[in-house]
Amino acid sequence: MRLTLHVWRQKNRAARGQFEPYDAPEVNPDMSFLEMLDVVNEGLMAKGAEPIAFDHDCREGICGMCGFMINGVAHGPLPGTTVCQLHMRHFKDGDVLWLEPWRARAFPVLRDLVVDRGAFDRIIAAGGYISVPTGSAPDGNAIPVPKLAAELSMDAAACIGCGACVAACPNASAALFTGAKIAHLGLLPQGQPERKSRVLRMVAQAQADRFGSCTNIGECEAVCPKRIPLEVIARMNRDFVRASFTRRDEVARGGD
Ligand code: SF4
Ligand code: FES
Repeated sequence: MRLTLHVWRQKNRAARGQFEPYDAPEVNPDMSFLEMLDVVNEGLMAKGAEPIAFDHDCREGICGMCGFMINGVAHGPLPGTTVCQLHMRHFKDGDVLWLEPWRARAFPVLRDLVVDRGAFDRIIAAGGYISVPTGSAPDGNAIPVPKLAAELSMDAAACIGCGACVAACPNASAALFTGAKIAHLGLLPQGQPERKSRVLRMVAQAQADRFGSCTNIGECEAVCPKRIPLEVIARMNRDFVRASFTRRDEVARGGD
């Protein structure tokens, strides 16, 4: 099949970008979306033109590196799917596709469809860890984990940090991502010692990186390729309120 692509081209963070049209004349329905772009890029390089820059790594839907908007939808039209796992059979001959990078102040465009998601790394560094005492590895069954907690934690741990939730949110909020990381650790016994400091630090870091606030619109959940539920945001907010009251009481008692 033959497609027309309008792709956002931008040389670097400071340059002005614009959409440029490309013809994709021999698209095989079994190609992934990224393979289709590989073929377009081969054609561009054969003509001595700059290939379209896009992020990718595993191409198996697990690393979170890929992602851009296809006709205004983060990761494209197939629910629960990263763009590397989206196949061309979901499009039809003659389709016109507009490809653009994630749009969020916290994710500056580096080049074409590639954005800097370092702000997510800073949120993780602020609290996305547990304390592990030194010594030999603990026995795997030493800490019993209730089945429901284990399942909910694993669901939250499925977040791959792709950033689609931020791109889809009209407020460019990182609440689904941050909530997933907080729920993943906060639901487990191993995550309890830092539970309060974790939520305070991670939420503060998201604000420092100028992600917007959540207003319960739900676009994040709709585009999330790992189907992270809005419930993680409610868990984060509950933890945040409890941790804030505890902190206030500590300060009132003369703590630092
Ligand atoms: S919550 Fe979903 S959309 Fe957001 S970063 Fe994680 S996997 Fe991507
Ligand atoms: S390239 Fe790894 S999730 Fe798409």
